[in-house]
Amino acid sequence: VDTLIAEQILSEFGLKKDELKEVMKRMQREMDRGLRLETHEEASVKMLPTYVCSTPEGSEVGDFLALDLGGTNFRVMLVKVGEDEERVWKVETKNQMYSIPEDAMTGTAQMLFDYIAECMSDFLDKHHIKHKKLPLGFTFSFPVRHEDIDKGILLNWTKGFKASGAEGNNIVGLLRDAIKRRGDFEMDVVAMVNDTVATMISCYYEDRSCEVGMIVGTGCNACYMEEMKTVELVEGEEGRMCVNTEWGAFGNNGELEEFRLEYDKVVDETSINPGQQLYEKLISGKYMGELVRLVLIKLVNEDLLFNGEASELLKTRGSFETRYVSQMESDTGDRKQIYNILSSLGVLPSELDCDIVRQVCESVSTRSAHMCGAGLAAVINLMRERRSQEALKITVGIDGSVYKLHPCFRDRFHKIVRDLTPHCEITFIQSEEGSGRGAALISAVACKMATSML
Ligand code: BG6
Ligand code: GLC
Repeated sequence: VDTLIAEQILSEFGLKKDELKEVMKRMQREMDRGLRLETHEEASVKMLPTYVCSTPEGSEVGDFLALDLGGTNFRVMLVKVGEDEERVWKVETKNQMYSIPEDAMTGTAQMLFDYIAECMSDFLDKHHIKHKKLPLGFTFSFPVRHEDIDKGILLNWTKGFKASGAEGNNIVGLLRDAIKRRGDFEMDVVAMVNDTVATMISCYYEDRSCEVGMIVGTGCNACYMEEMKTVELVEGEEGRMCVNTEWGAFGNNGELEEFRLEYDKVVDETSINPGQQLYEKLISGKYMGELVRLVLIKLVNEDLLFNGEASELLKTRGSFETRYVSQMESDTGDRKQIYNILSSLGVLPSELDCDIVRQVCESVSTRSAHMCGAGLAAVINLMRERRSQEALKITVGIDGSVYKLHPCFRDRFHKIVRDLTPHCEITFIQSEEGSGRGAALISAVACKMATSML
């Protein structure tokens, strides 16, 4: 009986194909509203123009610096962009990771950007290139309203960042000011891009059909190439422009209410940005472990797990890390991994407990794969309609810790996307070093355009 009740509780995470189709339909509607001038303001999915266009003018070659802020790690990279007859290619030379201290994430924007400039200075010192004024591509993985490729204001922070004085301001300006304040090096910031965009571009150079970029990591988001004439926020009719959907905010207008469970509501209410990024909170790595923990606590309270008793640690918010979900689902059947993680959280599980905990992980991560599959299917269907093609052949470049590290996410996700997009032939490519390469390649194109306009 107990297992039946547990199964009943977990069944709420299951999504039928019809429900996923409904999510798709609503997502497509919000995307459409986001693109239109009249409805853009109220749309939950902002569909932000990126000024990355389909008609590159060729590109510069040489050394570029790339910054990557907004994923699990902050990174500084030195990327060499070279060229052969057919395509631009890259050789990445140096790459350094820095951790962002909590007070820089949640203090003032000046503190955050001073810290970033300090890391850049350290990097330039280490590689003896401080005297060079390099072009810089900045991967900044938050919703930005661009005015150009190198200018845009931060609409709102997501994923646990909160530095005050950044929202509503030009991010490239904040970076330039911080570099100026230090005064020990110079840098030419030529492009700022979202991580989805950097990911798409880095894959585009391997596969010219790559017109979608996606991240399933700390956050979840996608971009794609949209017909210029339907990007109403930007003038011009010719060609295509990459649109950063910022679909993580889908649901902020109530579009997901019947899909949100009690655990989702707690995750949202206890987050730094309640009421925002509701779709992302059902999916991404920032929230997945906590969702599992809340379900475990529910099962304990119903006396269905751990003899009805949770440890203090397990009762503590954030104690169940998202990587545990991957580790538990990687367990080969001897329950060792599961047992070890649970003991480190202060509970002594029986074999049945271990099996139930694994099922909780599977339920939460499968829902994540299916929800986010419905989002991608919506984007791909929209592209197919726009291009009035009988069959759409498309490649999607993807990155992010959930996609890369979870043992089953990728297969479940690919399967559901293909189920939901008949008449489409989809190839998935995992991006390697997407942000560094992507940001450098876009900067190389931006440099070329700047020089050709002189
Ligand atoms: C990295 C990219 O590989 O993936 C980043 O370089 C991106 O730009 C990140 O933000 C997303 O994944 P996560 O798991 O680090 O949030
Ligand atoms: C969040 C950000 C978005 C980013 C995504 C993945 O959703 O708002 O800009 O692309 O996380 O990192």
